[in-house]
Amino acid sequence: MDRDQLLRELFDFLRIPSVSTLPTHDADCRRAAEWVAAELRKLGCSDVRFLGSDVHPVVWGVGPEVPGAPKVLVYGHYDVQPPDPLDEWTTPPFEPTIREGRIYARGSADDKGQVFCLLKAIGALGKPPVNFRFLIEGEEESGSKVLFDLLKREPDRAAVNVALVADMAYVAPGWPAVYTALRGLCYGEITVRTAQSDLHSGEYGGAAPNAHLELSRLLTRLRGDDDRINIPGLYGPVKRPSKEELAQWRKLPFDEQAFLKKRVRAKALVGLKKYSVHERLWALPTFEVHGIMGGFTGPGAKTVIPAQASAKFSLRLVPNQKLATVQRQVAAAVKKLVPKYVDVSVTFLHGADPAVVVPRHPAFGLLSQAFKEVVGRGTVNARAGGSIPVVPALGVKGAPVMLTGIGLPDDRLHAPDEKLDLKQLWDGIEVFQRFFTLVGQA
Ligand code: BES
Ligand code: MN
Ligand code: MN
Repeated sequence: MDRDQLLRELFDFLRIPSVSTLPTHDADCRRAAEWVAAELRKLGCSDVRFLGSDVHPVVWGVGPEVPGAPKVLVYGHYDVQPPDPLDEWTTPPFEPTIREGRIYARGSADDKGQVFCLLKAIGALGKPPVNFRFLIEGEEESGSKVLFDLLKREPDRAAVNVALVADMAYVAPGWPAVYTALRGLCYGEITVRTAQSDLHSGEYGGAAPNAHLELSRLLTRLRGDDDRINIPGLYGPVKRPSKEELAQWRKLPFDEQAFLKKRVRAKALVGLKKYSVHERLWALPTFEVHGIMGGFTGPGAKTVIPAQASAKFSLRLVPNQKLATVQRQVAAAVKKLVPKYVDVSVTFLHGADPAVVVPRHPAFGLLSQAFKEVVGRGTVNARAGGSIPVVPALGVKGAPVMLTGIGLPDDRLHAPDEKLDLKQLWDGIEVFQRFFTLVGQA
């Protein structure tokens, strides 16, 4: 198919603001699901259906039957993160625009562009070489509850020979990767209350407790000046990567100075300095604060002592840590770290266990070969700092879950000016086409 036509189709998909975390976009999520379903029908799929939810359905499809060929499950997500802050986008997030060989739009790399890449690779195959199954979900960015529940009820949907997840990036331009681990996530909200109601800061200041200060102290106790996370038991199950794995990471193309200046765009890196940046990003847990609410934040000045304050926070978890255990540890640490006169509560919004993949199955060799033929280099093994909650569940029936992607590290996922390089897209279509062909011949 000609590339202009492909881009027109991709842009239709990218224009749908399918933000799964905001209920105001439920109808858009549904439209994105319908877009996916129509593509699956074009591929000749039977049994295309919406499963588990009317607003954020999992789109299921069964490719044309190929007797004797392996079953390949294609996973992806059609939902995206909220686009704000809007005024930091060069062009609006849901008006896809090409500049300097890159598509700028929310979802261009995460994950609509990659879903599109897989679908068009399959479309270009003509007669499919394998038995395709599709699970394209619409709640990845908000915890994957619908797909989790579906796979718990009907695990056989993941009873396949190979599961392919393209929701990640190369480790550097020209360096495609397979990921051996994803971090998990424990996302929550802490609320502190220090009095029945707000108080005049002159009348009571100096004697009354201040909710914002108590919250700030709590947060800085949880992650101290040395950036160690002060939650008893948290580091207990954390294992250092093997010498071999660490040695392999040192050989990856990675320039710490360029990472700081071009990607983080800050003045310094932080974290546990005795570990390499890769180890901090891939093999150690984190504690981050996402937002702090409460008190007076309007224009002008108001002299008030806030009685309540809350913070959204999350921890990334690494292999061997368990979400349920970490939630208990966080709740206990929070209780312990506030003074008795502060009422504190923690609620958990969503989360994910970490995922580990041992790339032993022959299909990993075929994916590497496909990349090698198309982009000139096979895959390197790396780990990822991000999370895809449903990955452990995709492997419950024993299928190797292949974590890869066609993005680049500077795609700015979840941030303003998210982009996908056109070269990555065109190469990606060829790579996956070749990969599926090789799997069919194996
Ligand atoms: N595609 C990302 C996950 C990812 C990002 C993996 C970078 C590897 C490198 C995915 O869409 C994502 O953002 N997941 C969320 C999950 C969460 C909301 C439960 C994440 O990691 O924050
Ligand atoms: Mn994604
Ligand atoms: Mn994402």
